Amino acid sequence: MWSFVSTWHFSAQATQAGMEILEKGGDAMDAAEAGIRLVESDPEVETVGKGGFLNAKGELELDAAVMDGNTLKTGAVCGVRGFEHPVTIARAVMERTRHNILIGTGAEEFAREMGIEECGMEALIAPNAVEVWKQNLGLGHDTIGAVVLDETGKMVAATSTSGASMKVPGRVGDSPIIGSGFYVESGVGGAVATGLGEDIMRTCCSFRTVDLMRAGLSPQAAVEQVVRTAHETIVKHGGKPDCIALVCMNAQGEWGAACNHQGFTYACANPDCPPKVVEVTPIIDKDA
Ligand code: GLY
Repeated sequence: MWSFVSTWHFSAQATQAGMEILEKGGDAMDAAEAGIRLVESDPEVETVGKGGFLNAKGELELDAAVMDGNTLKTGAVCGVRGFEHPVTIARAVMERTRHNILIGTGAEEFAREMGIEECGMEALIAPNAVEVWKQNLGLGHDTIGAVVLDETGKMVAATSTSGASMKVPGRVGDSPIIGSGFYVESGVGGAVATGLGEDIMRTCCSFRTVDLMRAGLSPQAAVEQVVRTAHETIVKHGGKPDCIALVCMNAQGEWGAACNHQGFTYACANPDCPPKVVEVTPIIDKDA
């Protein structure tokens, strides 16, 4: 059975595109990349790709990653400028280098060598993002993350984001960091995160979710335990948790989702479930 789950309502278009590939017997990585590329191109999505929020200098720096659960190979890029599809560069890193992560100008040079289309940063900056930047609003850090299972049993995870708005130039969040923003192992499961990268990284949320599924927890029990533990651990050590949310899937294609704040949504589909968007009730509320 194939299955597709992804973060946020705006990923409904990704789920639809992924489903169209998977139901014809297509590859999980092709489905994840095709879905995420749509969101990267959508200027209405203010935290991913074109139209994404800007850093403190008014520049757009994009992070993305992919992971193949059959091979545990991963590819990620950080702080990429002037490319609409960082997820495609991340896939090329995984498939065409010996490395896991390329950053900044190195990633951009590699993308050019791979023939990946470059449009220049200005073409990706939306008027609303400039307005947010002018008003110095620290508004968003939402990632599209997808976990995908195809008919062969292959699982993949993929992410893409413009990162935290008003970030210090060069800042990297959780989304391109293996184990934090994403993790997947075919036969076990996968997880992707969205929220404030600093909090998600310091609590290694995605790897821990997959490890709990490996230990026998259902996707929902695993993801709830990770969000609760991450939140409580930050509090215990004197911090104030920001947004932490994850979706995950096991090797049977069953999914789970949890968050510590209001308003988190995800999109999902499998052969028994037409594409839908679900609002998640927080298991713990950071603002309470
Ligand atoms: N979760 C996205 C970021 O913090 O960069």
